[in-house]
Amino acid sequence: MGGVLSTASDKESIFARDLHFSDEDFRIIRELLYDKTGIALSAVKNHMAYARLAKHVRRLGVANFADYLALLRSEDGAHEWEHFINALTTNLTSFFREQHHFDILHQHALQHADRGEAYRVWSSASSTGEEPYSIAMTLDPAVRSGNYHILASDIDTNVLKKAAGGVYALDRIAKLSDQQLKQYFLRGRGQNEGMVKIKSGLMRNMEFRQINLVDRSWPQLGMFDVIFCRNVLIYFDKPTQAGILEHFAQYLKPHGLLLLGHSENIQHITDTFSPCGKTAYRLASGKTP
Ligand SMILES: C[S@@+](CC[C@H](N)C(=O)[O-])C[C@H]1O[C@@H](n2cnc3c(N)ncnc32)[C@H](O)[C@@H]1O
Repeated sequence: MGGVLSTASDKESIFARDLHFSDEDFRIIRELLYDKTGIALSAVKNHMAYARLAKHVRRLGVANFADYLALLRSEDGAHEWEHFINALTTNLTSFFREQHHFDILHQHALQHADRGEAYRVWSSASSTGEEPYSIAMTLDPAVRSGNYHILASDIDTNVLKKAAGGVYALDRIAKLSDQQLKQYFLRGRGQNEGMVKIKSGLMRNMEFRQINLVDRSWPQLGMFDVIFCRNVLIYFDKPTQAGILEHFAQYLKPHGLLLLGHSENIQHITDTFSPCGKTAYRLASGKTP
């Protein structure tokens, strides 16, 4: 998770601001981001907001942030929302982040998959794809029939594109075993030197979709055996978190699991879920859909 300033370019913004950016501009950005995504941007993230949006504001040729925000809210600016949201999400992730969840998933799949219907997992804030591909590498050996399906979704269309491409720099896969690398990745040659690509066999059972977790109605998704919602609830306030958790409950099979990030404790927010392992939850008794 980023601090007040998340990246080197976020930090640069302190020293070199050529666009006027007022406290009111920042207040409007926070309000718009909250309305569209549920993300409650901290009041100290002023520099981060400037750094992440300034280049685009310059590219549009508008004079300052006030003009950019006016454009964003006008009819002509409808197409600008995608960039605004993509720029302000934080997408930090890695393969097999929080390994214990993949051990839990493996055990759960051994117990509940191969029972006729497909074993279904939803990576609901999938970022650049490391999480859903780690899920696939866990299910591939665990589900003998290959009858599983992974839905990978995010609000950010850039990271979804990257995830669907399945191409990563070598330093991203340092934690993977030789066996996993051999079985699931192709090594780039020539101009793709230093990169790897996920083999098509691992992508076979995966689907990528843009889904906003704070939307009141999600598309028809079916029921899931496991929902991963890791390291995203922290960006939302408590009422938003509670709304999303109630929504998840409607999409979880009775034996289903909800897996959250290490700092996302929901016990004081809802009694719909009860803990059943390290940041793992199941539907509380009497709460099955
Ligand atoms: C820090 S990443 C976590 C990635 C992965 N789950 C992990 O734990 O490694 C948070 C992700 O949540 C996504 N996100 C933020 N707000 C969202 C929303 N309202 N709906 C869906 N995804 C959202 C961001 O785009 C980002 O990719």
